[in-house]
Amino acid sequence: MLNRRTALKTAAAAGAVALFPWDRITGSGAPGAHASVTADPAPTTPFLHAMPVPKVLTPVSATAASQRYELRMREAQVEIVKGLTSTARTYDGAFPGPTIQAERGREVVVRQVNELAVDTAVHLHGGHVRSEHDGLPMDTVAPGAERTYRYPNAQRAASLWYHDHAHHLEAENVYLGLHGLYLLSDRHERALPLPSGAYDVPLVIRDARVEADGTLRYTRPSDCPHMLVNGKERPYFKVAARRYRLRIYNACANRYVKLRFADGAEFTQIGTDGGLLERPVTRTELVMLGGERAEIVVDFARYGAGRSVVLENTGAQPSERPEVLRFDVTHPVADTSWVPARLAPEPDPLPTPTVERDFELRTFPAMTINGLSYDPARVDVTARLGATEVWTIRNVDVPAAPGAPDFHLWHSFHTHLAYFRVLERNGAPIGVRDTGLKDTVALGPGESVRIAMTWGPYTGQYVYHCHQLGHSSGGQMGRIDVVA
Ligand code: C2O
Ligand code: CU
Repeated sequence: MLNRRTALKTAAAAGAVALFPWDRITGSGAPGAHASVTADPAPTTPFLHAMPVPKVLTPVSATAASQRYELRMREAQVEIVKGLTSTARTYDGAFPGPTIQAERGREVVVRQVNELAVDTAVHLHGGHVRSEHDGLPMDTVAPGAERTYRYPNAQRAASLWYHDHAHHLEAENVYLGLHGLYLLSDRHERALPLPSGAYDVPLVIRDARVEADGTLRYTRPSDCPHMLVNGKERPYFKVAARRYRLRIYNACANRYVKLRFADGAEFTQIGTDGGLLERPVTRTELVMLGGERAEIVVDFARYGAGRSVVLENTGAQPSERPEVLRFDVTHPVADTSWVPARLAPEPDPLPTPTVERDFELRTFPAMTINGLSYDPARVDVTARLGATEVWTIRNVDVPAAPGAPDFHLWHSFHTHLAYFRVLERNGAPIGVRDTGLKDTVALGPGESVRIAMTWGPYTGQYVYHCHQLGHSSGGQMGRIDVVA
């Protein structure tokens, strides 16, 4: 058995990561664990593609109370790297999937037909839904089968997403394309003067490895040199010289991104996983791990027509390009949007927590939480409906040797059913990075957070897990049963 320190030293000494125990990370023998790559990746030439905006799905029927949709999970040929054809696992042929536009108070019903050769399970990430509609890992849709999911949308506006969650398969399924956006709006949000319509744009950011023959291959992030926005390799996007609302998703299976504008410019963050912040905050960088969302407003008028600005990832490895997306400013237009100083009401004061729990996330010798791998038959946490709990989450992995890739040592803690607030990071009060309602929180090596949530509104079986999907597929997940 390879000891961790030796493995890292050897890898660093070899100047490569060839010895990195990737199959242990994804769960040995788990489907989707690829030990090594053999073919060369396609070149990573930036700014060849215009960035598409995922198309909005049309309901098959709609009433004031509900909207019904139908999606077919199927393989499709897509162009990710210019000139190459890749086979993806998609919702309805789209990569990423089509966007579902939902409204608070109006149910969404999605009939999902599995035309793939693998099991799937569809989870609405950030959605407050009944257990039987949550897409739990064992609650799968077999090839040729179908399932209808119901989403009540009784929660506030937020940028959600739907993605695969089938046990051991979610990392590969999501990576190969099974993810799409679910934008939940409400009256309060629509009444705000924020940029809207064509000026409200999602950016689904994720890495990939597209090989020279077009193969989209699931493998460790350090072998994934391509960075995609809305399914295209490092595209450009033409914007008017005005304000835009950008909904940024880190949809990477296994890596963090550190995003900034190349000129270091400030932007205004207005929202996070759980919707609008109480007040906007000024940022220059976003550190996001898989599953996290950040909504920002950027005023491209500051650049003027004819100029460009690049969004870059300073979390790229030295061998990778930092460019993610280039905004090309075209022409000035009238802009009546603005960012109000108050975006959402103050949250109710935190009810007195009645339970404290501790969780340790660990990469070696296996992907575990509190030393255990996910067992769907074992109840790890029993929580009372309506109870407020404080959870301390510790990433007990230690930093990698300087220069060695450390993606696998980060953990991204995600809870189903309930949003939480981060109370502390590393024992200190939180900063702007951790403000707002969250459903996923990033922990670098050695970091810890304390979070508080109130369990509800439903009872039943749910899960919490690391949202580095290679980790959750490998067992870094626990079962929580919410009981009356
Ligand atoms: Cu986005 Cu349980 O996951
Ligand atoms: Cu993890």
